[in-house]
Amino acid sequence: MDMSTLIQRPSINSPSTLSAGQIQSLLEMTNRDEIDALSREARWMTLLHCGCTVYFRGIIEFSNICNCDCQYCGIRRSNGDVARYQLTQGEILRQARWCADRGFGSVVLQSGERRDPRFVDFVADVVRAIKRETRSAILPDGLGITLCVGEQSRESYRRFFDAGAHRYLLRIETSSPRLFQRWHPAGQTFDNRRHCLDHLRAIGFQVGTGVMIGAPWQTTADLAADVAFFREMDVDMIGMGPYIPHHAAPLAAVGVDSPAVRLRRTLLAIAAVRLVLRDVNIAATTALQTLAPLGRERGLAFGANVIMPQVTPASCRKNYTLYDAKPCDDETDSGYQKALESRIRGLGRTVGRHQWGDSPRVFHRKALLRSA
Ligand code: 5AD
Repeated sequence: MDMSTLIQRPSINSPSTLSAGQIQSLLEMTNRDEIDALSREARWMTLLHCGCTVYFRGIIEFSNICNCDCQYCGIRRSNGDVARYQLTQGEILRQARWCADRGFGSVVLQSGERRDPRFVDFVADVVRAIKRETRSAILPDGLGITLCVGEQSRESYRRFFDAGAHRYLLRIETSSPRLFQRWHPAGQTFDNRRHCLDHLRAIGFQVGTGVMIGAPWQTTADLAADVAFFREMDVDMIGMGPYIPHHAAPLAAVGVDSPAVRLRRTLLAIAAVRLVLRDVNIAATTALQTLAPLGRERGLAFGANVIMPQVTPASCRKNYTLYDAKPCDDETDSGYQKALESRIRGLGRTVGRHQWGDSPRVFHRKALLRSA
């Protein structure tokens, strides 16, 4: 494939105009030389638009109690084999402080989905406490906080934002309403998920979304449409990972591509998003690491610029199993951290310290609005 027609080196910070068909051809690459050329271009675009810094966000999976019954997920409500847990505010604060001391500028608070007032109060209180307790001379506004607690009402989102969270991740899972319906029970709808993204943006959050890659019935045309959807939504952050079956979830009964194909497709999708959206933050996810021990580092080589080390306390980590064989390395171990950082430096990148590391898209959008 002729890269020059696909790259369209930009003169301004706006998304590319690659068609869905062109994006699909990127996702279908199998030739080694073509894939290498694509990954080089994606790295170049990353450096051009985001610089060489890789940001760490410590991810604290603070509860696996979930009211949803997604057909693919291991912590779905009807899985009775999961030991459910909920960390206390003190336990979450301890992990957040560890992140701040270690120089991570941000944390991600993730949990199963609940919408009851107790849960919403708890999350808002925790956000306020983390902001209060992690302020320092080097981080005057405290840790940056990304929330990932699913579909909520507009009022709850507003409360979280007012409490001090400034980013929100809500994966759309697929931009195909038809696939969305097959992957979720009747009560969950694509339209509601999309409205949630609109509410988050209107409230002022930096918004992240993403999809699962290689899940049942998904085609490369679906995935190309997903990338076009991210562009249309003008999101700030992307978190995509391979689908990995969970033995107790109904979708595990449906055959999918081999792990090698899902891994390759995820790397190609990261590169495609980098070429199309350019100045957004893209995470190399834990699910990538599940399919290959250095999967996250490979994600960085295909255009990712964010890594989310798991800092959930070790005793709970094994119960936050969205999919089978999720790695449970102790990423708060200082030897583990040092090795990860040195691999990142080996890729010619640096590790961001004591900075939130917001997506450049946020600044570019503000600048465009000012000049309009
Ligand atoms: N494989 C991969 N990703 C999964 N998620 C949930 N279950 C799985 C699975 N079996 C992802 C979803 C969700 C995020 C928190 O985890 O995309 O949005």
